[in-house]
Amino acid sequence: MPLPFIKTKISPLWKRIKSDDSTRLRLKYDTYYHIFEKQEGTRVFKDGKEYIMLSSNDYLGLSHHPRIKEAGIAALNKWGSSTTGARLANGGRIFHEELEEKLANFIGKEACHVYSAGYLACASAVTGFADRKDIILADKNLHSSLWSGIQLSGARCERFAHNNPDHAAEILEEEDKNNKIFVLEGVYSMEGHIAKLPAFVEIAKKYKVFTILDDAHGFGVLGKDGRGTADHFGMTDEVDVLCSSFSKSLAGAGGFVASSKEAIDYMRSHSKQTIFSAALSPVSCACAQAALDVMQDEPQHRERLFKNLERYRSILDNLELDTWESETPAIPIVLGEKEKVYYFWKALLEKGIYAIISIAPGVPPGKDLIRTAISASHTDEDLDRIEEAMTYAKSKI
Ligand SMILES: Cc1ncc(COP(=O)(O)O)c(C=O)c1O
Repeated sequence: MPLPFIKTKISPLWKRIKSDDSTRLRLKYDTYYHIFEKQEGTRVFKDGKEYIMLSSNDYLGLSHHPRIKEAGIAALNKWGSSTTGARLANGGRIFHEELEEKLANFIGKEACHVYSAGYLACASAVTGFADRKDIILADKNLHSSLWSGIQLSGARCERFAHNNPDHAAEILEEEDKNNKIFVLEGVYSMEGHIAKLPAFVEIAKKYKVFTILDDAHGFGVLGKDGRGTADHFGMTDEVDVLCSSFSKSLAGAGGFVASSKEAIDYMRSHSKQTIFSAALSPVSCACAQAALDVMQDEPQHRERLFKNLERYRSILDNLELDTWESETPAIPIVLGEKEKVYYFWKALLEKGIYAIISIAPGVPPGKDLIRTAISASHTDEDLDRIEEAMTYAKSKI
């Protein structure tokens, strides 16, 4: 009798799987999907060697905070591991509602809805509102979650040059009908650029554009107590829909969409990402809520983040490394060629620093880069080691 795995190989699709170049190269150069055996603060361990993590999005360094861990354990004991179903069908739980109220209050919106992943939340912020009759104006450097939402919505999409309100306005000049929607990021995840929100808001007012802002990397970092990019510009009311992830500053898993009560009710009728996906787990919900409290009660984490950012930026500036004018803790080191990126990355690894390679088509051609992020939990000693490693890596390219 043939073994089941032999039978499946009859399909020609197996040829594609076996001969895929991206997978072959990824496995050959061993650049992604690393497995660490242990983590202690910013230190991760692989094959017995210790590395300083310089690419996680734990901006406030809360992932091991005792209050957050305790909240997660208590929720697990009280509510179990999962709600095992979507909220529309199986119902939400009181902890979902509590977190949504807290988040909405904090951000300055009327209502909020939480999801089991930031990716789902941000895709839903688009599909929950846009439909095939609409026109979406999208920054060409958006995160994949937003592109998924745009594609699923069936709306026509026009891309404008990265963070370029004038180009967006030029496109709008040609459009005289249909609902128009801006899809923007507060802080662009790869580049660390802050959206030119005041200019986009002005254009949105002129052309009656509905504005969706993904603030995964601005939430917790910018604005009063980390309320995010819209708050940073005093424009929370002008942005129609805000979405974000819990996996960055809140050091958890999940995400949210916030807007008016009317809009969130509308979205709950139209978002496949909530209608057909299991609710945020009790543990994730409790951890996000505790992290939100910590963020407000303990300003020292943000203060430390900005202190570390200043030092890290001066290390990179002194070495004349190109950081693509990043203004935030998400800092790319642009090297422009994939070979340079690879050797730089290897040199960092050799010196015990872990960062991520990002090459075209993941980034625009000529912008191949090492994506790094600084955290409040990096110590002065970490920064000394990072400085030494960066100096060494630069000498290798
Ligand atoms: C801008 C942006 N939006 C959405 C997401 C998705 O969030 P999550 O990883 O929590 O699913 C990310 C994650 O990298 C992101 O950078």
